[in-house]
Amino acid sequence: MFRKIALIAILAGCSLTGAAVADEQADPNIAARQSYMDLLAYNLGVIGGMAQNRMPYDAEMAATAAANLHTLAMVDTRRMWADGTDNFDTEGTRALPAIWENPDDFVARFVTLQTATEAMMAAAGTDLASLQGAMGGLGGACGACHQAYREPQ
Ligand code: HEC
Repeated sequence: MFRKIALIAILAGCSLTGAAVADEQADPNIAARQSYMDLLAYNLGVIGGMAQNRMPYDAEMAATAAANLHTLAMVDTRRMWADGTDNFDTEGTRALPAIWENPDDFVARFVTLQTATEAMMAAAGTDLASLQGAMGGLGGACGACHQAYREPQ
């Protein structure tokens, strides 16, 4: 409760003291898209762990993770990639300016992810070999976008 009040005070202070202070606050779009990516990674971790025999194959768990990934891939995240939130203009993000220079291609990468998660949904609950067969396409959909649009660490 106290935290909530403190946050409101901070937000109120922000609007009173103007844009210079507002610019120093982390943009909530960045937190939202990074949390979104963490959810993708969490679910991919389940499937990847089974694919690499780091955890036992469990058809139901694999199917659930694949369905979660597909649901996540269908989320419209466009608002989270707000203008001025690239890693050139803003701290705390690895999103490259290339995203805003190639918006159609960036969205197309999400469509590729949707297709890959669909294939994984069909495969994950069947058996381990099917899951492993769909892994390359799914991991590739993540990796290709990162290569083009995420600053290497
Ligand atoms: C359409 C492009 C795209 C796709 C597809 C994509 N990512 Fe990302 N991902 C990004 C970008 C850009 C960032 C950097 C975001 C930032 O720092 O603001 C990122 C960041 C991340 C991060 C770091 C998050 C953090 O807390 O900073 C993880 C983990 C991640 N992605 C996992 C995944 C996984 C797993 C998949 C596939 C299931 C995936 N991503 C698919 C573009 C993509």
